[in-house]
Amino acid sequence: MKLLDQVKEKARKAGKRIVLAEGEEERNIKAAEIITREKIAEVTLIGDEAVIRKVCPDVKLDGIKIVNPKTADLSKYSDTLYELRKAKGMTPEQAKELTKDCLYLGVLMVKLGEVDGMVSGAIHATGDVLRPALQIIKTAPGISTVSSCFIMILPEGCKYGENGIMVFGDCAVNPNPTAEQLAAIAISSAASARNIAGIDPKVAMLSFSTKGSAKHELVDKVVEATKLVKELAPDLAVDGELQADAAMVEKVANLKAPGSSVAGKANVLIFPDLQAGNIGYKLVQRLAGAEAIGPVCQGFNKPVNDLSRGCSVDDIVNVVAMTVLQCK
Ligand code: ACO
Repeated sequence: MKLLDQVKEKARKAGKRIVLAEGEEERNIKAAEIITREKIAEVTLIGDEAVIRKVCPDVKLDGIKIVNPKTADLSKYSDTLYELRKAKGMTPEQAKELTKDCLYLGVLMVKLGEVDGMVSGAIHATGDVLRPALQIIKTAPGISTVSSCFIMILPEGCKYGENGIMVFGDCAVNPNPTAEQLAAIAISSAASARNIAGIDPKVAMLSFSTKGSAKHELVDKVVEATKLVKELAPDLAVDGELQADAAMVEKVANLKAPGSSVAGKANVLIFPDLQAGNIGYKLVQRLAGAEAIGPVCQGFNKPVNDLSRGCSVDDIVNVVAMTVLQCK
């Protein structure tokens, strides 16, 4: 069975509730119908039912919950937002105004436990989707940083990764992570590899140096991050600093990092910053013809995922299924 089919199958068994905050947008409405029909999750759309029916007259809304911010009593959400943000200078009036924003409302529904996770971003930029979640949902216990990964499905016959599947992090969120943040990215990416990609993570902390072959403060950061991962997640198979070839190619690993339990067989690659990560996943996607699934947001206390603005209806269905697997 293909990875995404496996993800959907697991999601069906989990019985979770997901809010699609951009509920009046056509692709979201069509996705909601499919997700409901295929029992991948219980869906809530944020929006006005009349508008939803006008945008998609043929879509069946049976079994889909609709919350209209224009008519619903939003006081419990704005009270929650005010309580959470008053120390940052938010006034009750500002909280009331922000709660009308579908992204804030969706995140507040997650915070209050009315749904298990949120997916949006088909018509909003990444920062706009992530900021309310960063402010309200915050990070999971023991994780200092929210980050992202891509699940890379390599073309058939490719010898890298586990059954051609690899996980790359962080490719979409943290521009210039500290050693502590890099450690959090590694631990979260390993969890995504296990929970979503269904692989046993072997994590390589990538650099332009392998085991001291080069000296530079950028290398020191990766060495420090590797040390932190080993302290924070002693059972995780992790090694660094490793060049990409030493991480993935057994022969090179034997020369450059002999005795490493990860070098030569890494399936989770942690890039030292966002420039490397974002460029890296796009190169593998384009030059190797890999399928890049994501970005999957990771490290939130409850799952929130961002869509690409060019996403298709199927992409939304897939991201919802992955979000279900991130629910506790
Ligand atoms: N993890 C945990 N908390 C965070 C993080 C993080 N990574 N980033 C910010 N925060 C917290 C802050 O501490 C702050 O908390 P507080 O208000 O309670 O004190 C809150 O979140 C908001 O922080 P801001 O600094 O206001 O948020 P910012 O404007 O920096 O936005 C964002 C954060 C959106 C993640 C930003 O770093 C960003 O835009 N990253 C790049 C996204 C991007 O453009 N990616 C490339 C495209 S995606 C692609 O190609 C697939």
